[in-house]
Amino acid sequence: METTPVGIFDSGYGGLTILEKIRARLPYYDYVYLGDNARTPYGSRSFALVYQYTLQCVEALFAQGCRLVILACNTASAKALRTIQQRDLPRIDPHRRVLGVIRPTVEALGQLTQSRHVGLLATSGTVQSGSYPAEIRKLFHDIKIEAEACPMWVPMIENNEFDNAGADFFIRKNVENLLNKDPEIDTIILGCTHYPLIIKKIEKYAGKKVKIFSQGEVVAHSLADYLQRHSEIAERCSTGGSCRYFTTEASEQFCCRASIFLNEKIEAEHLELK
Ligand code: DGL
Repeated sequence: METTPVGIFDSGYGGLTILEKIRARLPYYDYVYLGDNARTPYGSRSFALVYQYTLQCVEALFAQGCRLVILACNTASAKALRTIQQRDLPRIDPHRRVLGVIRPTVEALGQLTQSRHVGLLATSGTVQSGSYPAEIRKLFHDIKIEAEACPMWVPMIENNEFDNAGADFFIRKNVENLLNKDPEIDTIILGCTHYPLIIKKIEKYAGKKVKIFSQGEVVAHSLADYLQRHSEIAERCSTGGSCRYFTTEASEQFCCRASIFLNEKIEAEHLELK
């Protein structure tokens, strides 16, 4: 039986925070990462464009052989996942699977909040989609959520500007705005896979009483659980522990930044989307 790698997709570098946790949890599988760095950020783009870009990238990962693709991007999960699952997969190949990051994040929430008041920091697209409140309503009637869109954060991170004092202005502003909307918030969801890269600063402005919840580990746990329940998918995932990196931008730049984010030297290849 032919086996192939698991595909991990993000608009840019953010999905690396998910990939890292997935590889720690499931180190034996092979992975292919694709960052659409040429068109990032997705967060402020329309539904139609995020869907179009995401589908194109999913098809590019399918062309690399992947049968299972994780949208390691909340914006793509919020705006494109359902249409891809319901409309595109039956047409492209009903045996392939695409999974997102929002559902597993919300599933973990019930155990995390004591006050039942949670906050969401995410891109404008994810906030406007209403996907988090909708998922929370399905699972937890007693949890109240307030959201704050942080449109400056992904560009800061993609451009490696997150470690200077200018970045603090925006991080502080958005975190304070969120906590002002509901002072009873005891848990903040980082609803964008880029944000764990600035978690120290978010923690600093949120204060000690608020837990900052980044989704990498729960997504990795949920994938492990999914593969256990779906042996027909798991047995078609190749094992070798390798990871190939693709970017729609120049590969040199991706290698340099991704090596900093992952703290290991990586090689990347440019991918031309069709
Ligand atoms: N990492 C994506 C997310 O989780 C980011 C988005 C962007 O490109 O704006 O939402």
